[in-house]
Amino acid sequence: MTGHDVRRAVVTGGAGFLGSHLCERLLRGGASVICMDNFLTGSPQNVAHLIGHPGFRVVECDLTGFVHVPGEVDLVLHFASAASPTDYLRLPVETLKVGGLGTLHALGLAREKGARFVLASTSEVYGDPLRHPQREDYWGNVNPVGPRSVYDEAKRYAEALTTAYRNSRGVRSGIVRIFNSYGPRIRPHDGRAIPTFIRQALAGEPLTVAGDGSQTRSICYVDDTVTGILALAFSDLPGPVNIGHPQEITVLELAETVRDLVGSRSAITFVDRPVDDPSMRCPDTALARERLGWRPTVSSEEGLRRTIDWFTAELGLERAVGT
Ligand SMILES: NC(=O)c1ccc[n+]([C@@H]2O[C@H](COP(=O)([O-])OP(=O)(O)OC[C@H]3O[C@@H](n4cnc5c(N)ncnc54)[C@H](O)[C@@H]3O)[C@@H](O)[C@H]2O)c1
Repeated sequence: MTGHDVRRAVVTGGAGFLGSHLCERLLRGGASVICMDNFLTGSPQNVAHLIGHPGFRVVECDLTGFVHVPGEVDLVLHFASAASPTDYLRLPVETLKVGGLGTLHALGLAREKGARFVLASTSEVYGDPLRHPQREDYWGNVNPVGPRSVYDEAKRYAEALTTAYRNSRGVRSGIVRIFNSYGPRIRPHDGRAIPTFIRQALAGEPLTVAGDGSQTRSICYVDDTVTGILALAFSDLPGPVNIGHPQEITVLELAETVRDLVGSRSAITFVDRPVDDPSMRCPDTALARERLGWRPTVSSEEGLRRTIDWFTAELGLERAVGT
């Protein structure tokens, strides 16, 4: 399958951060796109600029209920799910339901249509990893009854469902394990480190670093993430495939970089680390490189600069530089 073979795609969670970028990129490539979303953590505002495009439709629907799409579909990208810790801790059962029932329904749709199916999985399936960097054949270190399990285990179950539908129902499925992505349209208050630091630095408030900030993260600009996801979608690879930036950065370095790029003199303060917060995150991206020819191209400085510009322009956040 290539991008040219996709005439009509369904993006579940299409009004979310990643989903909206996927809708946009697919439309630009000439496909029609049906965005299915219940706006639980996303917003119609994220796709407002696509309304009026002849190939674009938004359908308000809860994936955990009945799902029906008339006509042909070549590709189902299943991205519906709360994704930020603030959201999934606030919506524990909803997160488990969309990971379980929602994935079941999205797989059923792909099966009915004979479509390629891609599950948005996450680096969180590795939990607090005991191997570093994380390769796709590592099974992870997840606490099944910890607070984050509503997300981690939902995604692990969704991976199992996807694999079962591939093996026993003939669905041409792929699994992408996405590491932290960021960029325009990420919500300032969604609780993830990057939007929090940008918002705090722009407002001249202290940047709140969890723990001593020595825990590491991998951050990938959204354009690169979307390119990787679609490379997998347009291939026949089952995955899982890691899509993330192979450069590791500590949370403290991240806070300092954001503060410098904003030009703010905000203090850095240290707050308690969340329960089961992973101490290391870095993808091994050999598989994506070798099988998909994918590698990220946007440096973290450039990506953060673009994101800061978006926050400033779109949200009317004034820079309180020097406070
Ligand atoms: N952004 C990242 O860094 C990242 C990293 C790893 C994995 N992912 C995965 O990518 C996907 C999208 O993440 P995001 O960052 O764009 O999050 P997001 O919260 O911005 O988007 C998720 C979307 O799913 C929708 N949704 C939730 N439950 C639904 C339901 N029952 N029915 C219909 N729609 C529903 C929400 O309204 C929202 O628009 C998620 O599956 C997430 O697990 C994202």
